[in-house]
Parts: sequence; structure tokens; C-alpha cells
Amino acid sequence: MKAILLAGGKGTRLRPLTLHTPKPIVPIFNRPFLHYQLDVLRQVPEIDEVILSLNYQPRRIEEVFGDGTALGLKLRYVVEPQPLGTAGAVKYAGEQLDDSVVVFNGDVLTQIDLRAVIALHRERKARATIVLTPVENPTAYGLVETDTFGNVTRFLEKPKPDEITCDTINAGIYVLEPDTFDRIPADTSWSIERSYFPSLIERGETFVASIYRGYWIDIGTPAKYMQVHRDIMDGRFVAPPFDHGPVISADGARIEDGATVEGPCFLDEGVVVKAGARVGPYSVLGRLTHLEDGARVDGAIVWANSWIGRDAVVSGATLGRNCHVGRSAVVGAGAVLGDKTVLTDFTKA
Ligand code: GDD
Ligand code: MG
Repeated sequence: MKAILLAGGKGTRLRPLTLHTPKPIVPIFNRPFLHYQLDVLRQVPEIDEVILSLNYQPRRIEEVFGDGTALGLKLRYVVEPQPLGTAGAVKYAGEQLDDSVVVFNGDVLTQIDLRAVIALHRERKARATIVLTPVENPTAYGLVETDTFGNVTRFLEKPKPDEITCDTINAGIYVLEPDTFDRIPADTSWSIERSYFPSLIERGETFVASIYRGYWIDIGTPAKYMQVHRDIMDGRFVAPPFDHGPVISADGARIEDGATVEGPCFLDEGVVVKAGARVGPYSVLGRLTHLEDGARVDGAIVWANSWIGRDAVVSGATLGRNCHVGRSAVVGAGAVLGDKTVLTDFTKA
């Protein structure tokens, strides 16, 4: 059995972080995001190959995962000539498949038991099975209505507030039969959510829902990107590097005497926290990031190789790689700085 990971989007809502780092490899602590998804797929021994469907900066992603040997998985990369949309991408990547295929949106994190979903798909002899999860506000997702037998009766992508009829949304995880791909036109952008799923319903094909109530998040916005770090630090989602207790610093991080570090937080290797600097809860400091005397980082995510100057404050913000925050500068909640941002001394951002 094969799995297709849809990982070709441009990650526009995560800009500027995704300008030089495609969303599938944005770091979650010290691991590129897709590692967490590959962990889920690896739990299904039946999946003998994972096909990564790519479009945006594909080489960067290939460089990180290689052929998968190091991860104990066989990986194959399929790069679209142009963005084909979520359905076009599945058809293009799954052209030669003849067995049921697992499809995953490349930006969702979950602890789902995929084996149970595959079993349901088989038991119901479904043409497609979709995982649904309840959320408070479905407007950013695909709303999915079901009947009492667990069949999908309606799919409405990005509903307006007055169109919300239930709380179950598309979790971005499917089991599909490749002989349903015939309706997807080749070489043109086509949406699985807006066209393929509605077509299954219109044709009365067996389209089954599997409701999942465990941990689920789409990391595609700065707020959710920050949230997933908090969830892992708080143990709501158990994953490395917090799967063996409350990590504070990786080997090779240097916290000088007189510095204050308050967990939960993560300091990657080579981080330097000078005397008089302070790292507050829910902070994440990437490799080689440096905090000068009097600097304060609180509930913020700072990627590798950044410099936080003397008496500067970074609170609730996300900073890309190689940023320079000048002396006494203040970076406030919700700020998102791209790689190599330079803030001159005393800036307020
Ligand atoms: N290969 C390829 N080609 N991948 C694509 C393309 C494309 O043209 N367009 C999007 N993707 C990938 C993205 O990289 C992402 O992993 C996934 O498809 C979904 O795209 P998003 O842009 O993240 O969609 P969304 O979050 O707004 O909505 C989707 O996910 C929700 C759950 O998180 C929809 O599937 C919703 O129905 C769903 O509720
Ligand atoms: Mg998404």
C-alpha cells in the first residue's frame, strides 16, 4: 500500500517564514515538520512507500529526507510541472496505482490510528474514506456533513459563518480508490475538496467518514505554528523532543551562570544564553542562537543562528533564521520576522 503526502503548497499564510523554507520542512523544535507525519505513516507496516507530491522548492525537501532509508521508510518524490491543486496532485502522483491509497495533507499533525481508518474503508467497501475532526470554527476548513450511517452527505470547503451546519471538518486524511481518479482532468489544477469529493456525493458512490476526536492541528498559520509547539511542550501531543520529559536544553547549549531559563522551553545545540539574559516559558531557540546580557525571550520561537542583542525583548513572536535584533529593541506578540531580518537598536516591532 502506498501513501501520498500532499506537500506542494506555497505556504502563503506562513510567509515570510516559508519564503526560504517550504512548509513541509519548517522546523518544529529541531525537526523538519514532515518527520512528525512520517512517524504516523511508519506505524502502518502495510505502507511500503510514501510518495511526496511536491511543487514548491522540491529540492530543499528532497535534501532533508533523501530516499528515506535513514527513517526506515521508502520515499519517492513526484514534482508537478505546475501546481495541479489537491486532486490534480493526487492523480499525477498516483497515476500507476491500482490499490487503495492513503492521502495526507502535508501540514496536519495528529495521533490518529491509520490502521483503523484503513480497516473501516475495507469493511465498508468504500470508494473513499475521509477522516473528520470536530473544531470550534469550521470556516478555515472543509465542512463535512454525514448521515447516521457514517456516510458523507455534503462537503463544503471554507464555509461562510452562516453556512455552518455542524462542527465536523475534513482533517486532510483520506483512503481513496485509484479507479475514482478517472474524473480528475490531467494537466490542470483541480481541487479534491471543491470538485472530487462533491462528485463522489453527486454520483452516489460509497463515501465514508471516520470521526477522530484526538489531537489534530493544521500548522499552516503563524498562530497554529506557535500553538503546535505549546501543545508538544505541554504534552497534549506527545512527540520528540518532549517525549521523554521536560527538555530544556539540547546537548551543547550554554546557559551562563546568572542567566534565567524557565521551562517548558527548548534550547537547541549551540545556543548561548549570556549571564543576565532570561528565557521565559514556551520559548524555542534554534541552533546557535545567541542571547546577549539582559535580553529577554518569552513565549517566542526563534530559528537558528539569530542574535538577540543586549536588553532586547522578544515576546510572543516568531523569528526566522539569521535574524538580528538590536540592542533594546522590542519585538511584540504576533510579529513574524523573515530570515535575515535586521532590527536596528531600539526598534519597536
Ligand atoms: N502537490 C501539491 N500541489 N500540493 C498542494 C497543492 C498543489 O497544487 N495545493 C495544496 N497542496 C498541499 C499543501 O501543501 C497542503 O499540505 C495541503 O495540500 C492542503 O493545502 P492547504 O493550502 O494547507 O489547504 P487548507 O489548510 O486551506 O485546507 C485543506 O486542509 C484542511 C485541513 O487542514 C482542505 O483540505 C480542507 O478541506 C481541510 O479541512
Ligand atoms: Mg492547511
